[in-house]
Amino acid sequence: MALGGMLLTGPALWAQTSPASGEAFSQRSLILLLIATMVVVALVSLVLALSILVLVRQKSTATTVNEAGETVPVESTPLLSWKFIQKKLTDAVPVEEEESIDMGHDYDGIRELDNNLPPWWKYGFYLTIVFAVVYLWYYHVSSDWSSRQEYEVEMAEAAAEKEAYLAKVGNMVDESNVVMLEDAAALAEGKAIYDANCVACHGALGEGGVGPNLTDQYWIHGGSISDLFSTIKYGVPTKGMISWQAQLKPQQMQQVASYILTMQGTNPPNAKEPQGDLYVPEGEAAPAEADTTANEEVAMLAQP
Ligand code: HEC
Repeated sequence: MALGGMLLTGPALWAQTSPASGEAFSQRSLILLLIATMVVVALVSLVLALSILVLVRQKSTATTVNEAGETVPVESTPLLSWKFIQKKLTDAVPVEEEESIDMGHDYDGIRELDNNLPPWWKYGFYLTIVFAVVYLWYYHVSSDWSSRQEYEVEMAEAAAEKEAYLAKVGNMVDESNVVMLEDAAALAEGKAIYDANCVACHGALGEGGVGPNLTDQYWIHGGSISDLFSTIKYGVPTKGMISWQAQLKPQQMQQVASYILTMQGTNPPNAKEPQGDLYVPEGEAAPAEADTTANEEVAMLAQP
């Protein structure tokens, strides 16, 4: 039974290791633990009570005459005997009366008896039928709670946890570990941030204005994703580019920096003349000045 209790509470106990479900753990598994303890206590008390009843003997004043003709008190009988309990539990016909239930089949000396099913087994069986009906009704008919709902709730919880985790991880981004984001959702976020904050100085298409052109390969502060990230994060206050770390979360700076890199080579109209040095991504040969195909490729990649 204690084992049963452990099995019941097991998964909930393990769930404690995941911090997000800590709250749920304490409530649900405490209740299960309580129920398991109560069942164990109830069973132990039952066995104890039965044992006491077996030990207690009925006080009897009746007498009887024995074979020798003496009057002796009737031997006291216990209130309850193990034999009686066993009889109640198994409902088996005593060995002496087996003849009455002999089916007449004899297999090499093994006779077939027509005993009743043990009551504990029979009622256990009825209980499973009742349980099945209740279970069916509860989980498949009543809209109260169903496996489907449970699945959906758990999926939603997992999605929320995943989001929280990703947000946490995303916000640990800094210039030393930032990577370019390529998924459409992140780039769309980046575009939204750019449109809201950067267009005034860098132009709607990154063509430049007060700030430099962001679509060419010339960069004043370096053209790698981590260069861009630090320029955006710390800014160049003396030159009119503010530090954005107070307004944007690290993940947002990563998104907008990634978005800017997708604008590479898009050659927007009214582009500001290049400023700074030609930046060649590591592992790539410096492209020829007139290599427009490379630019087109990048531009195509930039389409979300
Ligand atoms: C008030 C105008 C202004 C705004 C708004 C602005 N910038 Fe700038 N930005 C500048 C200027 C000016 C520079 C050039 C700094 C220099 O000369 O060192 C610059 C430089 C940059 C550079 C480096 C370019 C290079 O050649 O190295 C990046 C990247 C950049 N900005 C990104 C952004 C992003 C992203 C935003 C929006 C979140 C933004 N800027 C908003 C004015 C602005």
